[in-house]
Amino acid sequence: MSIEHLLENNRAWSARMERERPGFFKGLASQQKPRYLWIGCADSRVPANEIIGLPPGEVFVHRNVANLVVHSDLNCLAVLDFAVNALGVEDIIVCGHYGCGGVQAALQPTEGRIVDHWIRHIRDIAKHYKDDIEREPTATAQTRRLCELNVAVQVVHVRESPVLLAARSKGVQVHGWIYDVGDGLLRDLTPIVDEVRALEPSCRLS
Ligand code: CO
Repeated sequence: MSIEHLLENNRAWSARMERERPGFFKGLASQQKPRYLWIGCADSRVPANEIIGLPPGEVFVHRNVANLVVHSDLNCLAVLDFAVNALGVEDIIVCGHYGCGGVQAALQPTEGRIVDHWIRHIRDIAKHYKDDIEREPTATAQTRRLCELNVAVQVVHVRESPVLLAARSKGVQVHGWIYDVGDGLLRDLTPIVDEVRALEPSCRLS
């Protein structure tokens, strides 16, 4: 598909939206008031709005390789702060996905590329939960387990970030989900998040 075609697609989409919901763009132009913050993987198969059926204006989105929330990542922290304190989001969704290339790479030898520095964060999780992961019978199942554990750890990172701790009175809920690129379905990982919290009592700040 050519670049020109994308611009044509955009004109057609804009016209269709305006036809179906007259005044839609004019309403959005004055303000955004999304209820949700989505923190997801940059993977092209996991487009936030599309898989949860939300139009523009409903979800604030941050995506990076393997949906990580790193304590020193100013980009992610700025998104978190803006979403919670300026936009007033009520729910934060950390969404990972099965078949995540970043997670797979964390179980392979390093290739020394820039992205390997980023993936190092997932290697640390794999090391920390080595016994849990190796309980899975196949390499595929082990990778899937690490995809789930990665989400759970990032949920804990969001919950225990200074931004969320300072905004405790706002009652923002943090959810961990995983998306299956093979069937397009989301699954709630809340039970695994609770397991991870139980395994890491020293991280409990609240
Ligand atoms: Co991914």
